[in-house]
Amino acid sequence: MAREVSFVFNGNPMKMTVGDHWTLLHLIREELGYLGTKEGCGSGECGACTVIVDGEAVNSCLFLAAEIDGRELLTIEGLAVGDGTLHPLQKAFIENGGIQCGFCSPGMIMAGKALLDENPNATEEEIKEAIAGNLCRCTGYVQIIESIKSVSGHQTEEPRVIAWKTEENDRDA
Ligand code: FES
Ligand code: FES
Repeated sequence: MAREVSFVFNGNPMKMTVGDHWTLLHLIREELGYLGTKEGCGSGECGACTVIVDGEAVNSCLFLAAEIDGRELLTIEGLAVGDGTLHPLQKAFIENGGIQCGFCSPGMIMAGKALLDENPNATEEEIKEAIAGNLCRCTGYVQIIESIKSVSGHQTEEPRVIAWKTEENDRDA
């Protein structure tokens, strides 16, 4: 069985036919060919597949593709603007050593983005809670938390993620 779904993918309206049994992760990687979203455990345990649906971080390996109908999907590829300028969180991960092998990084960044979009002044405790479901095999948690904290207005007073979302991402995605 298959069904047609309409959704917004990284800012672009899209229509496609999806299998009833497909996961959102399958749709993103195998059908759309966007490989930034990683597959780790495939069972909701590692967070490597984290994407944002309607503003919320979700494990795409557990999310049925058919349920994306009418919703807005954002993957790591949707963060940088058209000219290749990285999102502040992506820059922060590079600058703070938050990326080691990089396998967990897309999921960590998406979890961080969902948090800061909702709560631009997230504290360290709130950051830890937001990425609690994201495992880093390289165990670089200190640098990952520092990376997200460096973008949080809790540190800077300036809600940079929100500004990016409204001025840049909306325009160029
Ligand atoms: S691959 Fe989805 S949570 Fe691990
Ligand atoms: S940087 Fe290697 S798994 Fe996190």
